[in-house]
Amino acid sequence: MNFPQVRLRRLRSSSALRELLQETRLTTNDLIYPLFVQPGTGRKDPVSSMPGVFRYSQDLLIKEVEEAHELGIRAVLLFGIPEAKDEAATSAYDDNGIVQQAVRLLKKTFPELIVITDVCLCEYMSHGHCGVVRDGVIENDGTLPLLAQTALSHARAGADIVAPSDMMDGRVRAIREKLDYNGYPHVAILSYAAKFASAFYGPFREAADSAPAFGDRRTYQMNPANGREALREVLQDIAEGADMVMVKPALAYLDVIRAVREKVLCPLVAYNVSGEYSMIKAAAARGWIDERQVVMESLTGMKRAGADLIITYYAKDVASWLREG
Ligand code: PBG
Repeated sequence: MNFPQVRLRRLRSSSALRELLQETRLTTNDLIYPLFVQPGTGRKDPVSSMPGVFRYSQDLLIKEVEEAHELGIRAVLLFGIPEAKDEAATSAYDDNGIVQQAVRLLKKTFPELIVITDVCLCEYMSHGHCGVVRDGVIENDGTLPLLAQTALSHARAGADIVAPSDMMDGRVRAIREKLDYNGYPHVAILSYAAKFASAFYGPFREAADSAPAFGDRRTYQMNPANGREALREVLQDIAEGADMVMVKPALAYLDVIRAVREKVLCPLVAYNVSGEYSMIKAAAARGWIDERQVVMESLTGMKRAGADLIITYYAKDVASWLREG
């Protein structure tokens, strides 16, 4: 059969029909809310390149998480801004570090909240790279014990899921072994498996104060042009013990999300990164686009591509828009 018998507009003729036949649905259960925690009290410092995003001290972090929790958001992803940085990222694996303290407080206050921690060294290294630097080179194997120690200290603090974002080879295995040998076999690993060397992370580096002091991250993060290699990264991390995998960024990589979805069975997470957020904020502030509609369309596209969960700075807005209906 063909036109005029086939008329695809027939099923779009009322909003009830469109609702009934909608293939992809974004829900509050799909959202992970990323948050920045810093030392001090009474602090809520705006990130200038990300309007609406703040760096919270623990007391105000609790208030922000309480609001998110009341909106139905089940999971948060924590990033720490430490007091001090050095060449060994010491405060990353300090059991009394900023993330470790915040995790303990969050799990005590909201026991059923899923707390995910970003496991990376860049915020804690004086040079801002994600690994140990020797003679200007970012070392792989020398970095693994530090990452594993960081993940273990997050687990000890009560993290439900640890999320390594450094892109060193072998880190998932190193973290899995460390957790298992130390009594944390139940803590899950969400691997930033296909993480591209992206200019879309620009605003995050202001938020987390983690820009590299020299060079860039292209010897460890992936070349944005490589889709097949992304699948190798994903398969490798699953083989090493990742429970969930991530593609990051999201919007310019929807084909990668789709390819991963078709290849693997584990849960798949998309990271709607800082630059994607800030572009929408900037255009909306000028009245050039409708913020709510553009956000909902973008996140629905990520789900349609195959993502199960989405990490987004828009999590609270989305949850309240969904509640309004
Ligand atoms: C840490 C890390 C980064 C992001 C998440 N974890 C920055 C980077 O790799 O430079 C980016 C998040 C965002 O842009 O929203 N390695």
